[in-house]
Amino acid sequence: MYHIPVMLTEAVDALDVTPGGLYVDCTGGGGSHSAEILRRLGGTGLLIVIDRDPDAIAELHKRFDGMTNAVIVHDEYENIKDILESLVPGRRADGILVDIGSSSHQYDEVSRGFSYHADADAPLDMRMSQSGVSARDIVNNYSYEQLVYVISTLGDEKFAPRIASNIIKRRSEAPIETTTQLVDIIKASKPQKELKKRGHPAQKTFQALRDETNCISSHLEASVDAMFCSLNRGKGRLSILTFSSHEDRIVKTKFRSYASPCICPPELPVCVCHRMPLAAVNKSVTPSEAEIQNNPRARSARLRSLKKIRDTYFDDIDDADGTDGPDRLDER
Ligand SMILES: C[S@@+](CC[C@H](N)C(=O)[O-])C[C@H]1O[C@@H](n2cnc3c(N)ncnc32)[C@H](O)[C@@H]1O
Repeated sequence: MYHIPVMLTEAVDALDVTPGGLYVDCTGGGGSHSAEILRRLGGTGLLIVIDRDPDAIAELHKRFDGMTNAVIVHDEYENIKDILESLVPGRRADGILVDIGSSSHQYDEVSRGFSYHADADAPLDMRMSQSGVSARDIVNNYSYEQLVYVISTLGDEKFAPRIASNIIKRRSEAPIETTTQLVDIIKASKPQKELKKRGHPAQKTFQALRDETNCISSHLEASVDAMFCSLNRGKGRLSILTFSSHEDRIVKTKFRSYASPCICPPELPVCVCHRMPLAAVNKSVTPSEAEIQNNPRARSARLRSLKKIRDTYFDDIDDADGTDGPDRLDER
Protein backbone atom coordinates (compact mmCIF):
# COMPACT_ATOMS: atom_id res chain seq x y z
CA MET A 1 0.00 0.00 0.00
CA TYR A 2 1.33 3.48 -0.90
CA HIS A 3 0.37 5.01 2.47
CA ILE A 4 -1.65 3.97 5.52
CA PRO A 5 -3.82 7.02 6.24
CA VAL A 6 -3.79 8.45 9.77
CA MET A 7 -7.01 9.57 11.53
CA LEU A 8 -8.87 9.16 8.25
CA THR A 9 -12.39 9.52 9.65
CA GLU A 10 -11.57 12.25 12.18
CA ALA A 11 -9.66 14.42 9.67
CA VAL A 12 -12.42 14.18 7.04
CA ASP A 13 -15.24 14.58 9.62
CA ALA A 14 -13.64 17.91 10.58
CA LEU A 15 -14.25 19.15 7.01
CA ASP A 16 -18.01 18.60 7.32
CA VAL A 17 -18.14 17.63 3.63
CA THR A 18 -21.30 18.89 1.89
CA PRO A 19 -22.32 17.50 -1.51
CA GLY A 20 -21.69 20.08 -4.24
CA GLY A 21 -18.90 21.78 -2.25
CA LEU A 22 -15.34 22.71 -3.20
CA TYR A 23 -12.59 20.92 -1.26
CA VAL A 24 -8.80 20.87 -1.36
CA ASP A 25 -6.56 18.03 -0.17
CA CYS A 26 -3.19 19.82 0.08
CA THR A 27 -1.18 16.61 0.63
CA GLY A 28 -2.68 13.96 -1.62
CA GLY A 29 -0.05 11.22 -1.00
CA GLY A 30 -1.62 7.83 -1.71
CA GLY A 31 -5.08 9.42 -1.94
CA SER A 32 -6.92 7.76 0.97
CA HIS A 33 -8.10 11.02 2.57
CA SER A 34 -9.04 12.29 -0.89
CA ALA A 35 -10.98 9.10 -1.63
CA GLU A 36 -12.99 9.56 1.56
CA ILE A 37 -13.79 13.20 0.66
CA LEU A 38 -14.85 12.07 -2.83
CA ARG A 39 -17.02 9.32 -1.33
CA ARG A 40 -18.81 11.90 0.81
CA LEU A 41 -19.20 14.26 -2.18
CA GLY A 42 -21.01 11.42 -3.95
CA GLY A 43 -20.03 12.43 -7.48
CA THR A 44 -20.90 16.13 -6.95
CA GLY A 45 -18.77 19.24 -6.30
CA LEU A 46 -15.02 19.36 -6.84
CA LEU A 47 -11.93 18.08 -5.04
CA ILE A 48 -8.53 19.58 -5.86
CA VAL A 49 -5.72 17.22 -4.83
CA ILE A 50 -2.21 18.70 -4.50
CA ASP A 51 1.15 17.01 -3.92
CA ARG A 52 4.75 18.06 -4.56
CA ASP A 53 6.08 14.50 -4.96
CA PRO A 54 6.06 13.11 -8.54
CA ASP A 55 5.61 9.56 -7.13
CA ALA A 56 2.45 10.69 -5.28
CA ILE A 57 1.14 12.41 -8.42
CA ALA A 58 1.57 9.17 -10.42
CA GLU A 59 -0.27 7.23 -7.68
CA LEU A 60 -3.08 9.80 -7.52
CA HIS A 61 -3.55 9.63 -11.30
CA LYS A 62 -3.78 5.84 -11.08
CA ARG A 63 -6.42 6.13 -8.37
CA PHE A 64 -8.55 9.06 -9.56
CA ASP A 65 -8.19 9.40 -13.34
CA GLY A 66 -11.66 9.16 -14.82
CA MET A 67 -13.34 10.83 -11.84
CA THR A 68 -14.81 14.03 -13.22
CA ASN A 69 -14.94 15.83 -9.86
CA ALA A 70 -11.26 15.32 -8.94
CA VAL A 71 -8.39 17.47 -10.24
CA ILE A 72 -4.80 16.48 -9.48
CA VAL A 73 -2.22 19.25 -9.23
CA HIS A 74 1.56 18.78 -9.04
CA ASP A 75 2.51 21.78 -6.92
CA GLU A 76 3.17 22.92 -3.34
CA TYR A 77 0.37 23.85 -0.95
CA GLU A 78 2.17 27.13 -0.28
CA ASN A 79 0.66 28.15 -3.66
CA ILE A 80 -2.93 27.29 -2.77
CA LYS A 81 -4.30 30.75 -3.58
CA ASP A 82 -2.82 30.71 -7.11
CA ILE A 83 -3.96 27.11 -7.63
CA LEU A 84 -7.56 28.00 -6.72
CA GLU A 85 -7.46 31.17 -8.80
CA SER A 86 -6.29 29.29 -11.89
CA LEU A 87 -8.71 26.35 -11.54
CA VAL A 88 -11.83 28.00 -10.08
CA PRO A 89 -11.41 31.80 -10.42
CA GLY A 90 -13.14 33.85 -7.72
CA ARG A 91 -14.11 30.81 -5.62
CA ARG A 92 -13.03 29.80 -2.17
CA ALA A 93 -12.96 26.35 -0.61
CA ASP A 94 -15.52 24.83 1.75
CA GLY A 95 -12.83 22.66 3.29
CA ILE A 96 -9.06 22.27 3.17
CA LEU A 97 -7.15 19.25 4.48
CA VAL A 98 -3.41 19.06 5.22
CA ASP A 99 -1.63 15.89 6.37
CA ILE A 100 1.90 17.13 6.97
CA GLY A 101 3.85 13.92 7.60
CA SER A 102 5.90 11.97 5.11
CA SER A 103 4.10 9.17 3.29
CA SER A 104 4.78 5.48 3.98
CA HIS A 105 6.02 5.32 0.38
CA GLN A 106 8.61 8.03 1.05
CA TYR A 107 9.88 6.08 4.10
CA ASP A 108 9.73 2.66 2.50
CA GLU A 109 11.27 3.54 -0.88
CA VAL A 110 14.85 3.07 0.33
CA SER A 111 16.44 5.15 -2.44
CA ARG A 112 14.60 8.28 -1.19
CA GLY A 113 16.87 8.38 1.90
CA PHE A 114 14.10 9.09 4.45
CA SER A 115 14.74 6.03 6.62
CA TYR A 116 17.32 5.54 9.39
CA HIS A 117 16.93 1.75 9.47
CA ALA A 118 20.11 -0.29 9.08
CA ASP A 119 18.74 -2.29 6.15
CA ALA A 120 17.85 0.90 4.25
CA ASP A 121 21.23 2.44 3.49
CA ALA A 122 20.79 5.08 0.77
CA PRO A 123 22.08 8.46 -0.35
CA LEU A 124 21.06 11.19 2.14
CA ASP A 125 18.30 12.73 0.06
CA MET A 126 14.88 13.20 1.79
CA ARG A 127 13.48 15.56 -0.87
CA MET A 128 9.73 15.12 -1.27
CA SER A 129 9.72 17.07 -4.54
CA GLN A 130 12.79 15.14 -5.78
CA SER A 131 14.47 18.47 -6.63
CA GLY A 132 16.30 21.30 -4.86
CA VAL A 133 18.40 21.16 -1.69
CA SER A 134 18.86 17.68 -0.21
CA ALA A 135 19.62 16.48 3.31
CA ARG A 136 23.15 15.77 2.04
CA ASP A 137 23.58 19.46 1.13
CA ILE A 138 22.38 20.52 4.58
CA VAL A 139 24.54 18.06 6.52
CA ASN A 140 27.67 18.95 4.53
CA ASN A 141 27.22 22.73 4.25
CA TYR A 142 25.33 24.15 7.25
CA SER A 143 27.46 25.83 9.94
CA TYR A 144 27.71 24.33 13.43
CA GLU A 145 25.16 26.89 14.72
CA GLN A 146 22.71 26.14 11.89
CA LEU A 147 22.98 22.40 12.48
CA VAL A 148 22.40 22.82 16.24
CA TYR A 149 19.38 25.01 15.52
CA VAL A 150 17.85 22.55 13.04
CA ILE A 151 18.48 19.41 15.11
CA SER A 152 17.40 20.89 18.44
CA THR A 153 14.46 23.04 17.30
CA LEU A 154 12.94 20.89 14.57
CA GLY A 155 13.88 17.56 16.16
CA ASP A 156 13.67 18.34 19.89
CA GLU A 157 17.01 16.48 20.18
CA LYS A 158 18.89 17.33 23.39
CA PHE A 159 22.19 15.96 22.04
CA ALA A 160 22.10 18.38 19.09
CA PRO A 161 25.39 20.18 19.95
CA ARG A 162 27.34 16.88 20.13
CA ILE A 163 25.74 15.55 16.95
CA ALA A 164 26.48 18.83 15.12
CA SER A 165 30.09 18.91 16.27
CA ASN A 166 30.61 15.26 15.22
CA ILE A 167 29.06 15.99 11.82
CA ILE A 168 31.49 18.90 11.34
CA LYS A 169 34.45 16.71 12.42
CA ARG A 170 33.48 13.81 10.13
CA ARG A 171 32.78 15.93 7.06
CA SER A 172 36.19 17.63 7.36
CA GLU A 173 37.64 14.20 6.40
CA ALA A 174 35.14 13.39 3.60
CA PRO A 175 31.57 14.41 2.73
CA ILE A 176 28.79 12.53 4.54
CA GLU A 177 26.93 10.75 1.75
CA THR A 178 24.62 8.10 3.15
CA THR A 179 21.92 7.54 5.77
CA THR A 180 24.01 4.86 7.50
CA GLN A 181 27.03 7.18 7.81
CA LEU A 182 24.80 9.77 9.49
CA VAL A 183 23.19 7.18 11.80
CA ASP A 184 26.68 6.07 12.92
CA ILE A 185 27.65 9.67 13.70
CA ILE A 186 24.45 10.18 15.71
CA LYS A 187 24.97 6.94 17.65
CA ALA A 188 28.56 7.92 18.44
CA SER A 189 27.29 11.26 19.80
CA LYS A 190 25.03 9.70 22.44
CA PRO A 191 25.91 8.09 25.78
CA GLN A 192 25.44 4.30 26.03
CA LYS A 193 22.43 4.60 28.31
CA GLU A 194 20.64 6.82 25.74
CA LEU A 195 21.21 4.19 23.05
CA LYS A 196 19.39 1.61 25.17
CA LYS A 197 16.22 3.74 25.43
CA ARG A 198 13.06 3.00 23.43
CA GLY A 199 12.96 4.54 19.95
CA HIS A 200 15.75 4.74 17.37
CA PRO A 201 18.64 7.04 18.36
CA ALA A 202 18.53 8.75 14.94
CA GLN A 203 14.77 9.35 14.90
CA LYS A 204 14.83 12.97 16.07
CA THR A 205 17.74 14.08 13.90
CA PHE A 206 16.18 12.47 10.82
CA GLN A 207 12.85 14.14 11.61
CA ALA A 208 14.65 17.50 11.85
CA LEU A 209 16.44 16.96 8.53
CA ARG A 210 13.23 15.87 6.77
CA ASP A 211 11.60 19.05 8.00
CA GLU A 212 14.49 21.34 7.00
CA THR A 213 15.06 19.68 3.61
CA ASN A 214 11.40 20.18 2.70
CA CYS A 215 11.01 23.62 4.39
CA ILE A 216 7.99 22.30 6.28
CA SER A 217 8.15 24.32 9.51
CA SER A 218 9.71 27.37 7.91
CA HIS A 219 6.79 27.69 5.44
CA LEU A 220 4.03 26.46 7.72
CA GLU A 221 2.85 29.72 9.28
CA ALA A 222 2.52 31.49 5.91
CA SER A 223 0.92 28.38 4.39
CA VAL A 224 -1.74 28.20 7.12
CA ASP A 225 -2.54 31.89 6.52
CA ALA A 226 -2.83 31.25 2.76
CA MET A 227 -5.17 28.28 3.43
CA PHE A 228 -7.25 30.29 5.87
CA CYS A 229 -7.62 33.11 3.31
CA SER A 230 -8.71 30.51 0.74
CA LEU A 231 -11.68 29.36 2.85
CA ASN A 232 -15.28 30.55 2.54
CA ARG A 233 -16.25 32.62 5.51
CA GLY A 234 -19.05 31.38 7.72
CA LYS A 235 -18.61 27.83 6.41
CA GLY A 236 -15.05 26.89 5.45
CA ARG A 237 -13.22 24.25 7.52
CA LEU A 238 -9.51 23.67 7.90
CA SER A 239 -8.25 20.29 9.12
CA ILE A 240 -4.50 19.89 9.79
CA LEU A 241 -2.63 16.75 10.86
CA THR A 242 0.92 17.20 12.20
CA PHE A 243 3.49 14.64 13.32
CA SER A 244 5.99 16.64 15.40
CA SER A 245 5.60 18.88 18.43
CA HIS A 246 7.35 21.73 16.62
CA GLU A 247 4.94 21.66 13.67
CA ASP A 248 1.96 21.25 15.99
CA ARG A 249 3.05 24.28 18.04
CA ILE A 250 3.09 26.43 14.89
CA VAL A 251 -0.44 25.33 13.94
CA LYS A 252 -1.74 25.71 17.51
CA THR A 253 -0.34 29.27 17.82
CA LYS A 254 -1.78 30.27 14.45
CA PHE A 255 -5.21 28.82 15.25
CA ARG A 256 -5.17 30.58 18.63
CA SER A 257 -4.44 33.91 16.93
CA TYR A 258 -7.53 33.45 14.71
CA ALA A 259 -9.76 32.46 17.64
CA SER A 260 -8.49 35.01 20.20
CA PRO A 261 -7.26 38.00 18.22
CA CYS A 262 -7.56 40.58 21.07
CA ILE A 263 -4.39 42.69 21.33
CA CYS A 264 -5.35 44.67 24.44
CA PRO A 265 -2.69 44.80 27.19
CA PRO A 266 -3.58 42.19 29.87
CA GLU A 267 -3.88 44.90 32.56
CA LEU A 268 -6.93 46.45 30.81
CA PRO A 269 -10.14 45.28 32.55
CA VAL A 270 -12.15 45.23 29.30
CA CYS A 271 -11.30 44.76 25.64
CA VAL A 272 -10.91 48.04 23.76
CA CYS A 273 -9.48 46.70 20.48
CA HIS A 274 -12.85 45.08 19.63
CA ARG A 275 -11.25 42.54 17.34
CA MET A 276 -13.67 39.72 16.71
CA PRO A 277 -12.61 36.07 16.32
CA LEU A 278 -11.88 34.96 12.78
CA ALA A 279 -12.43 31.28 13.57
CA ALA A 280 -14.04 28.79 15.93
CA VAL A 281 -11.37 26.27 16.86
CA ASN A 282 -12.15 22.68 17.83
CA LYS A 283 -10.36 20.74 20.56
CA SER A 284 -7.34 18.91 19.18
CA VAL A 285 -7.59 15.14 18.69
CA THR A 286 -4.99 12.33 18.81
CA PRO A 287 -5.27 8.80 17.37
CA SER A 288 -6.99 6.04 19.34
CA GLU A 289 -4.93 3.29 20.98
CA ALA A 290 -6.39 0.85 18.43
CA GLU A 291 -5.14 2.96 15.52
CA ILE A 292 -1.65 3.25 17.06
CA GLN A 293 -1.56 -0.54 17.57
CA ASN A 294 -2.52 -1.00 13.96
CA ASN A 295 -0.22 1.69 12.56
CA PRO A 296 2.63 2.74 14.90
CA ARG A 297 3.46 5.65 12.55
CA ALA A 298 0.24 7.30 13.79
CA ARG A 299 1.74 7.59 17.30
CA SER A 300 2.86 11.22 17.07
CA ALA A 301 -0.13 12.55 15.11
CA ARG A 302 -2.34 15.41 16.28
CA LEU A 303 -5.34 16.79 14.43
CA ARG A 304 -6.35 20.45 14.73
CA SER A 305 -9.37 21.88 13.00
CA LEU A 306 -11.37 25.08 12.77
CA LYS A 307 -14.32 26.73 11.11
CA LYS A 308 -13.77 30.14 9.55
CA ILE A 309 -16.19 32.75 10.84
CA ARG A 310 -15.09 35.94 9.13
CA ASP A 311 -12.34 37.49 6.99
CA THR A 312 -11.51 40.54 9.07
CA TYR A 313 -11.45 41.31 12.79
CA PHE A 314 -14.06 44.05 12.48
CA ASP A 315 -16.42 42.47 9.98
CA ASP A 316 -19.64 41.42 11.73
CA ILE A 317 -21.52 40.50 8.56
CA ASP A 318 -21.91 36.74 8.48
CA ASP A 319 -21.92 36.41 4.72
CA ALA A 320 -21.78 32.71 4.04
CA ASP A 321 -20.77 33.02 0.39
CA GLY A 322 -17.41 34.38 1.55
CA THR A 323 -16.57 36.18 -1.64
CA ASP A 324 -16.60 39.87 -0.77
CA GLY A 325 -14.83 42.12 1.72
CA PRO A 326 -11.14 42.88 2.11
CA ASP A 327 -8.87 40.01 3.06
CA ARG A 328 -7.04 41.44 6.05
CA LEU A 329 -4.69 38.48 6.42
CA ASP A 330 -3.57 38.92 2.83
CA GLU A 331 -2.16 42.31 3.73
CA ARG A 332 0.26 41.08 6.38
C1 LIG B 1 1.42 11.91 4.96
S1 LIG B 1 1.43 12.07 3.24
C2 LIG B 1 -0.25 12.29 2.86
C3 LIG B 1 -1.01 11.03 2.83
C4 LIG B 1 -2.44 11.17 2.36
N1 LIG B 1 -3.23 11.94 3.28
C5 LIG B 1 -3.08 9.82 2.09
O1 LIG B 1 -4.24 9.62 2.49
O2 LIG B 1 -2.46 8.97 1.47
C6 LIG B 1 2.05 13.68 3.00
C7 LIG B 1 2.18 14.07 1.55
O3 LIG B 1 2.32 15.49 1.53
C8 LIG B 1 3.19 15.84 0.49
N2 LIG B 1 3.69 17.19 0.82
C9 LIG B 1 4.47 17.56 1.86
N3 LIG B 1 4.70 18.89 1.84
C10 LIG B 1 4.02 19.37 0.77
C11 LIG B 1 3.83 20.67 0.22
N4 LIG B 1 4.42 21.74 0.76
N5 LIG B 1 3.05 20.81 -0.87
C12 LIG B 1 2.44 19.72 -1.43
N6 LIG B 1 2.60 18.46 -0.97
C13 LIG B 1 3.36 18.28 0.12
C14 LIG B 1 4.24 14.76 0.52
O4 LIG B 1 4.91 14.66 -0.73
C15 LIG B 1 3.41 13.52 0.85
O5 LIG B 1 3.04 12.83 -0.32
